[in-house]
Order: sequence, then structure tokens, then C-alpha cells
Amino acid sequence: MHHFEYHNGELHAEDVPLSKIAAEVGTPFYCYSTATLVRHYNVFAGAFDNHAAQDKPLVCFSAKANGNQAVLTTLAREGAGIDVVSGGELARALAAGVPGERIVFSGVGKTREEMRAALEAGIYQFNVESEPELEALNDVAGSMNVKAPITIRVNPDVDAQTHEKIATGKAENKFGISWGWARDVYARAGAMDNIQIVGVDVHIGSQLTSLDPFAAAFRRVAELVQTLRDDGHTIDRLDLGGGLGIPYDELTPPHPDDYAHMVAQVVGNLGCQLIFEPGRMIAGNAGILVSDVIYVKQGENRRFAILDAAMNDLIRPSLYDAHHGIIPVKAPDSSSTYETYDLVGPVCETGDTFAKNRELPVLQSGDLVAFLSAGAYGAVMSSTYNARPLIPEVLVNGDQYAVIRPRPRIEDLIGLDRIPDWLKD
Ligand code: LLP
Repeated sequence: MHHFEYHNGELHAEDVPLSKIAAEVGTPFYCYSTATLVRHYNVFAGAFDNHAAQDKPLVCFSAKANGNQAVLTTLAREGAGIDVVSGGELARALAAGVPGERIVFSGVGKTREEMRAALEAGIYQFNVESEPELEALNDVAGSMNVKAPITIRVNPDVDAQTHEKIATGKAENKFGISWGWARDVYARAGAMDNIQIVGVDVHIGSQLTSLDPFAAAFRRVAELVQTLRDDGHTIDRLDLGGGLGIPYDELTPPHPDDYAHMVAQVVGNLGCQLIFEPGRMIAGNAGILVSDVIYVKQGENRRFAILDAAMNDLIRPSLYDAHHGIIPVKAPDSSSTYETYDLVGPVCETGDTFAKNRELPVLQSGDLVAFLSAGAYGAVMSSTYNARPLIPEVLVNGDQYAVIRPRPRIEDLIGLDRIPDWLKD
């Protein structure tokens, strides 16, 4: 469910007409709904309300999905923690006022500098992904005279049944510690002076549309928890990662309540505090990308709607063949006629194609269209390819809206470059 709907013949974000925002900030732009962000967070967190686990679950929004300070602050005020994967995301979470004890740090390549910053911030846990990382963390923590709280991310060798570029739980993926080695690595971690084992972590992929792969992975994790406890380790926390999909097209992913029910069945009797790292499920449908039709071009055998948004603004279709719903900002009515379009951007690559053969009410130059489900992995993955400045982000809250990242001027972009001495004069 989201808060982008037609009222009075045009698409609104909550109570604000998108044409109004377009007139003020120009196109293209990302627009997020506070009500949707808050609702999704609470639906997810609320699904675990009745769990018998010893502590309240910690829901850490995955900042990689959408790291804007205003988005993080909105969620932090609801009580969300943050899952970070870099020093930059850690800094963003802290700047948004998220306390260290609500931050978890994932990722295969944490540097010593990043470890130090995270230890200084007193984060809740590091999800460690390799033995060399474990050694480095022990070292850094030792130099600071502290103990680093860790889980080990295990790779359960489960097929997440999602796009290969976002599947992470198979043995051939770079993530986690191989299933068969986990016990040995825990033994090594247990013997390290500046490492404190607190739990187990798993994350098998993103945009999962079935509960089965989750259940298969969590069952393996549950077995491992028993084994590790028998080995004498203290396992109080289970970080079950993110990954719950959203409905981009006809696929209907499981509801968080069903996910929570499955989690309770599979790991509920372990007495662990549960940690989750949802990204897309919270932010995906809370954002849209609004773009203007520059030209409608008739090709030999297809009609192209050339938009002012491009693959550098929203790369998901070109990188993952991802489907995004695309709708006109002006509401279609019974008199509308429809045409079939390929929706493309101005970037000089054939890959700059958002969708092919989409039926839309007849489009004309100057019409606005909205890409749905663009709130996660949209703005954060954008680039300035073709010298296109990053596009603005706008947050709506009821009848208010604010630009939460302004559009840089092209001069700002050019001004980042430096001319070496030998090229001056
Ligand atoms: N935790 C870890 C360790 C992750 O690697 C990820 C996502 C998440 C949590 C959040 O997953 P989510 O709940 O959002 O599925 N750029 C791709 C998605 C990459 C996901 C990377 N990891 C896309 O646009 O589909």
C-alpha cells in the first residue's frame, strides 16, 4: 500500500499534486511519501509484536536502499535502527541521530578505518563475513582496548530464487562464511581477546517473492545455533537480514505478517533477540520518480517516448531488467486513447531503456509520467553519467513538502574537477 493516488484528475503524493512539485523543482525528481515510509516500517515492526523472544526485535532499515538524511530521520523517529555497509552509511546514520546501539554493520569489505569509526560509535554489532575480517576487527578493537560485538554471517547455500545479481546466499556468492566452516570460525572467534560473539547473521538475497528460501535458510541457522550453543558459545541474537520483496509487477510477495509467522515457527523457540534489515520493503513503494516527456519519436516499427529521466537516474531496468510501473501524472479518463511506447531516456546507450511496449494514454511532449516503486535503490544508485547532475529528492508529509536534496548546478559538478598545473594556461 502506498500514498500515490489520483485526486481531482491528477496524481498526488499524499495531499500534494505532483504537477505542483514539478513546477517548483523541475523534472526529473524523486518524491517520497512520509505516510508510506512510516506505515511500512510499522507494518513490518508490528508483525513481530507478539513474539515471545526475550527482547523486542530490532528492525534496522537498510540504508543502502535509501540513505537520504530526511528518510533516515523519519524512520529513526519511529524507532528504527539502521543497517549500514560502509563508513559513509555509518556517518549518515549517526548524522540522522540514530544511536550506535541501533546500528548494525554488514558487508564483505569493511576497512580498518570503518571498523574504528564503528567501534567509536558503539554500534550494536558487526556482521563479520570472513576470517581475515575477523582478525582485522580483533586487532582494531585491541588497539582501542574494547571488545567488538560480532555475529558471523553464514552462507546457507540456499537459492533465493531472485535475480542472480541480487542473490547472496549460494555457496558461489562472495557473501558470508561457508556453511561447513562456520563452527570452526566461531571457535576461532571465541578464542580472540577483543571479539565478543553475540549471535548469528544470515541474508540470502533481495526481492524474494516466496517464503520458502527464507525458511530453508533460517532452518539451517536454527540448527547452527544449537550446535554453537553446545560448543559453549553465547548466541543471544539472530540477524535474519532483509530481502522481503515488493510487488513491482504481477508477483505478490508474502505479507510481513506471514513472514513473521514463518520466522516464529522456525526460530521462535531459540530465545534469541531477532534483528531484521529490511530496505526495499520499507522504502520501495514509498517513492516515485517523476519525469517529463521530451519528445515522442516515431521509429520504423515502434514509438519512443523520450523522457528527461535516464538510466543514470534510475538504473534498475537497465541493470536488472527490472520492471517499474509507469503511469501518467494526469489521470486517464474514459475518453483517453492508448498507444504503445518504448520509454527511453536521453543517455547515449541502447541500455537506456526503461520499458518496452508499454500501453499508456497518448503521450505528448511536456506530459509528466511517474515511475512507481522507485523509493528503494533509485536515488542511491544514481550517477552523473553524460554530465547529468543528480536529480532532486522531495519528501511529502500530508499537505507539506520539502526538497530534501536539491538539484546541483552543472557548475557544481564541473567544479569538482581539478586542472593539473601542466594544463593551466
Ligand atoms: N542486509 C544485507 C546484508 C543486504 O545485502 C541487503 C541488500 C539488505 C539487508 C536489504 O535488502 P532488501 O530488504 O532491500 O531486499 N540494488 C538492488 C538490490 C541490492 C540489494 C543489496 N543488499 C536492486 O535495485 O534491486
